[in-house]
Amino acid sequence: MTGIRLAGVSKSFGGKPVLKKVSLEIRSGEFFCVLGPSGSGKTTILRIIAGLERPDEGKVYFGDRDVTDLPAKDRGVSMIFQSLALYPHLSVYENIAFPLRVRKTPEQEIKKTVSDVAETLRIQSILNRNITSLSGGERQRVAIARSLVYRPQIFLMDEPLTGLETAFRQELRREIKEIQRSTGITTVYVTHDQVEAFSLADRVALLHEGVVQSVGEPQQVYERPENLWAARFVGDTPLNVFEASLKAAGDEAVVKVDELGLAFRTKVSRIPSDGRVYVAGRSEAFKLGVEGFLTGVVVGREVLGDRVVYTVDVEGRRIVVKAAAYIDLKPDEKVEIGVDLDKLMIFDGEGRRL
Ligand SMILES: Nc1ncnc2c1ncn2[C@@H]1O[C@H](COP(=O)(O)OP(=O)(O)OP(=O)(O)O)[C@@H](O)[C@H]1O
Ligand SMILES: [Mg+2]
Repeated sequence: MTGIRLAGVSKSFGGKPVLKKVSLEIRSGEFFCVLGPSGSGKTTILRIIAGLERPDEGKVYFGDRDVTDLPAKDRGVSMIFQSLALYPHLSVYENIAFPLRVRKTPEQEIKKTVSDVAETLRIQSILNRNITSLSGGERQRVAIARSLVYRPQIFLMDEPLTGLETAFRQELRREIKEIQRSTGITTVYVTHDQVEAFSLADRVALLHEGVVQSVGEPQQVYERPENLWAARFVGDTPLNVFEASLKAAGDEAVVKVDELGLAFRTKVSRIPSDGRVYVAGRSEAFKLGVEGFLTGVVVGREVLGDRVVYTVDVEGRRIVVKAAAYIDLKPDEKVEIGVDLDKLMIFDGEGRRL
């Protein structure tokens, strides 16, 4: 297995920058996800790792080896493309066997390898079928099988579960995770779906407009994102963001959120010179029915199952609060809101975390 390092990788297409000085370190054996909206440059990162695209600037390393100019075929990388690209005129068996045939593997070995991989992915019963007769989910498995047969050093997956129904996605997701764990192949998995990224990844990188915004374990990226964009992008409810001021007070700082009439002391990594900051809190940073700082009126209610998301009007400001389902509030009801100060995030005027 091998680690991957992108060092200051930039790429433009037709004068339009698509990746801007992307630096990432993917550890050997790691399941690494790149999460970002459509057009953020995810596929381009994978194609550069695979050697299908050359960076305009910057270097790509596998372990200590500079592979920036190494042809794709010599990289030991297997990639599942966003469009699956199976061979429709070949059977499932021949599709899976294809990478081995290209490498002139003996027939006996091909048989054994295909059969082993087919067993792992539970597709033994469809090996003789035509690709065109398969469902989307079956095709997905065949594509994964094909990319696994020759034991790549690095496994690249570009949104392999897009377009599948939810239950099946969850099942395949667990299988992909299991295959990665048991093979230990360094894997880079690209998706725009944060549930997918968070459930699969050892670590995740958030990408926006070709710039890496935040990198870390899923929990870390959720709780301590590097900037306001990353904070807003993750989470299943809209982020509550307030303008505020911050002043040094001994080795701490005092933060004032005027529009909420809220002031509190906290530790920050630095004090921005103009003192203007943003205070952001996820819906779970606020607690309904707890005597606290704020009083509001319920204006919206959305049931998520065991949780309910309320929109509460606090003096003209909307705050989104997640509550347990047993807290049953009706529209127009008056409610007290407590704030969990430890869960508030503070960003400077440019949106960088403090
Ligand atoms: N070969 C190319 N020629 C011109 N523009 C390209 C090329 N490849 C990618 N782009 C552009 O670069 C940007 C990033 O593309 P990329 O495919 O990496 O995004 P993505 O994050 O994978 O998006 P999606 O989630 O939609 O797949 C897009 O604006 C795309 O149109
Ligand atoms: Mg893409």
